[in-house]
Amino acid sequence: MAYQEERYTLGFPEMDSQHEYLYDLFDSIEPVFTSGNLSATERLVHEIEHYFIFHCECEEHLMRMYNTPSFAVHQSDHERAQQKLLQFLDDYEASRLNPAAMRIFFTGWLMEHSKLSDSEYVTWVKECRKSFRGLRSAGTDFDHID
Ligand SMILES: [Fe+2]
Ligand SMILES: [Fe+2]
Repeated sequence: MAYQEERYTLGFPEMDSQHEYLYDLFDSIEPVFTSGNLSATERLVHEIEHYFIFHCECEEHLMRMYNTPSFAVHQSDHERAQQKLLQFLDDYEASRLNPAAMRIFFTGWLMEHSKLSDSEYVTWVKECRKSFRGLRSAGTDFDHID
């Protein structure tokens, strides 16, 4: 698969599986567009739109849960990519979308964004969770709670 070796994995299965699905969707853009199957093309475009927004919201929800320090910067980065997505959708509606340009933009964006930005919240969230796991081993006696 193209660029597979450059696709950064977070080592954080909750989000790696979402990234993997996004890469699959982006890889489908050119084959589906060139197939001439209009209904498949329509379904793919909508799935990309909805799943991309879903993924950004999942991450933002997770970052808010854990008060992640770089939340605002990260959210702006998502918003910029979503603006770009809207431009591609406008092009699609106007029958002037360049499928290769869309695939190259989003695959590249995801590779770079996950490596530079997602990796930061992952480090933070993992640290937070370590402290929760530590509650039990630190001697907190959950047996007395009820
Ligand atoms: Fe992500
Ligand atoms: Fe992100």
